[in-house]
Amino acid sequence: MISVRKLSKRHGTREVLRDVSAEVAKGETIAIVGPSGGGKSTLLRCLNYLESFDAGEVVIAGATLAPGKRDADLRGLRTKVGMVFQQFNLFPHLTALENIALAPQIVRRVERGAAARRGRELLERVGLGDRHGAYPHELSGGQQQRVAIARALAQDPEVLLFDEPTSALDPEMRDEVMAVIKDLATRGMTMLVVTHEMQFATDIASRVWVIDRGTIAEDGPPAEVVANPKTDVAREYFRRQRR
Ligand SMILES: Nc1ncnc2c1ncn2[C@@H]1O[C@H](COP(=O)(O)OP(=O)(O)OP(=O)(O)O)[C@@H](O)[C@H]1O
Ligand SMILES: [Mg+2]
Repeated sequence: MISVRKLSKRHGTREVLRDVSAEVAKGETIAIVGPSGGGKSTLLRCLNYLESFDAGEVVIAGATLAPGKRDADLRGLRTKVGMVFQQFNLFPHLTALENIALAPQIVRRVERGAAARRGRELLERVGLGDRHGAYPHELSGGQQQRVAIARALAQDPEVLLFDEPTSALDPEMRDEVMAVIKDLATRGMTMLVVTHEMQFATDIASRVWVIDRGTIAEDGPPAEVVANPKTDVAREYFRRQRR
């Protein structure tokens, strides 16, 4: 589903990603962890070309990304690769249902009634069937994030990218969002999830990547990487997360 080959990216003179190569099979869930500034967000943003890169190639959901791609090439990609951010980024003047049903109508020309029916189904799936008419400011952070996940699902993506989806939430709201993501993992969605919640990472992930200074320092099943880290950076990172 995803193949990253020698991906490199600089910001000015700073090398943010260095020769990153990785493969992700359909249905895998990758938990991405590691110290601040290591390049986790940048890698995710390169995978759906929210950021360009300087060298290498990404093949994702059938699309090939390389330096110098134009926006016109990316329209299809953005429906196949969804992204959910730490800040939910809902449209404040639209209801929960309208937030979910808008893009399919515009991007994929789904008929209004069909988009609304699908939107309601997705709200049910994230546990918000009764809140379709609520505006974002009437919802808790955890509820807003679940609407954001439903909105991403409405495009029928083949891959979902999550950048710290629970970091902006109070602890009591994290569980409900993590439960939704875990359910998606169980249903076989291909996902990359940046998170600092190690229990969550261990629960959902087929593999864990530890990203440090622009490279994947460790890559393996949680039982290996988390239980038995080989690098100093991973050991130190996990030790701090446990404290
Ligand atoms: N627009 C930018 N201009 C210059 N440097 C940038 C820019 N965006 C990111 N960087 C740098 O790239 C590096 C990687 O940043 P990135 O946000 O990908 O890290 P991260 O692993 O997501 O960190 P965190 O855990 O804090 O979210 C950092 O050193 C950061 O300062
Ligand atoms: Mg980040």
